[in-house]
Amino acid sequence: MLDITVNSVMPPKAGQPLGFGRVFTEHMFMMDYTRGQGWHDARVVPYQNISLSPAAMVLHYGQEIFEGLKAYPGENGEVYLFRPDMNAKRSNQSCERLVIPPIPEEDFVQAVKTIVDIDRKWIPTDPGTSLYIRPFIIATDPFLGVAPGSNYLFMIILSPSGAYYESGLEPVGIWIEDEYVRAVRGGMGFAKCGGNYACSLIAQQKAHDDGYSQVLWLDGVERKYIEEVGAMNICFKISGKIVTPVLNGSILPGITRNSVLTLCRDMGYEVEERRISVDELVEAARSGALEECFGTGTAAVISPVGKLRYKDEVMEIGGGKIGPVSQKLYDTLTGIQWGKLDDPYGWRVTV
Ligand code: PLP
Ligand code: COI
Repeated sequence: MLDITVNSVMPPKAGQPLGFGRVFTEHMFMMDYTRGQGWHDARVVPYQNISLSPAAMVLHYGQEIFEGLKAYPGENGEVYLFRPDMNAKRSNQSCERLVIPPIPEEDFVQAVKTIVDIDRKWIPTDPGTSLYIRPFIIATDPFLGVAPGSNYLFMIILSPSGAYYESGLEPVGIWIEDEYVRAVRGGMGFAKCGGNYACSLIAQQKAHDDGYSQVLWLDGVERKYIEEVGAMNICFKISGKIVTPVLNGSILPGITRNSVLTLCRDMGYEVEERRISVDELVEAARSGALEECFGTGTAAVISPVGKLRYKDEVMEIGGGKIGPVSQKLYDTLTGIQWGKLDDPYGWRVTV
């Protein structure tokens, strides 16, 4: 018997553990921008390394933005996206902040649909898995001066992925950071750009060393108000109301957050988008008024939080178990995303 090596990229087999963002598909999308010419040369090519000048501006000054969305397998071979127009819009808001030329929203969505369609056999079907889609734009000019670039590259890569947190729907522990900050008023907090994540790593490392999965940031001015988690927005159920930090320019306007707030209102909950001080949260946890806490995000979906640590205090929430609202939101959101539930909002887009 010959042992035959097959030199082609094959989708992972069902049942194979995927992790998050480690496996990539066979193709990728690319499009160039040249000042004076605009965006041009949209193309799909085999997934491969790219070549950049060592002087490429993105490598030095971080002129870069990205997005994150998912493709979900439907019942009859259909493939769904979830509100990709919102990613296109947010991508352009990030572009504006980082002085990157915007991409027409319909072109962004067309590019996502095209690459997903081409690699649709890579969409995993095991429970809890999906195809993570990562569009991003980088400044490529070989120039060491600090200035907006004249040349950019827009790419989309795809990664069959499992749960973002290894614990899946098991509640995570979150560290409320009181030393470092992520964003300040007038900064880039609302934009999805690499710098916001680079500056978060030191606190994340501290949290990990102490056994916590993620960091919950406080505002950068007074270090008093709750902002968001490293890779998700945060929501609380306090005395029966759903409460979440208001979009103040320093947190990411999450598409999952927006969808969850709509679902909560339609489930009959009173929803408050407002400033929440960490003192109020600690008090609510002490008194038992803090009934549930969960993160919302594309990668994280609905991620129940079972434990919050602030300074020397560790607050257990819901006996470390997923709460009923978090569970209901997870079921409804994923039901719509996977095409198992009706979509009265028109959020699901067929590829
Ligand atoms: N906040 C941060 C910092 C994120 O990285 C993410 C993930 O994209 C979110 C919030 C949630 O945003 P969305 O629901 O659009 O994925
Ligand atoms: C997403 O949820 O799409 C994100 O971008 C989170 C990421 C930083 C992993």
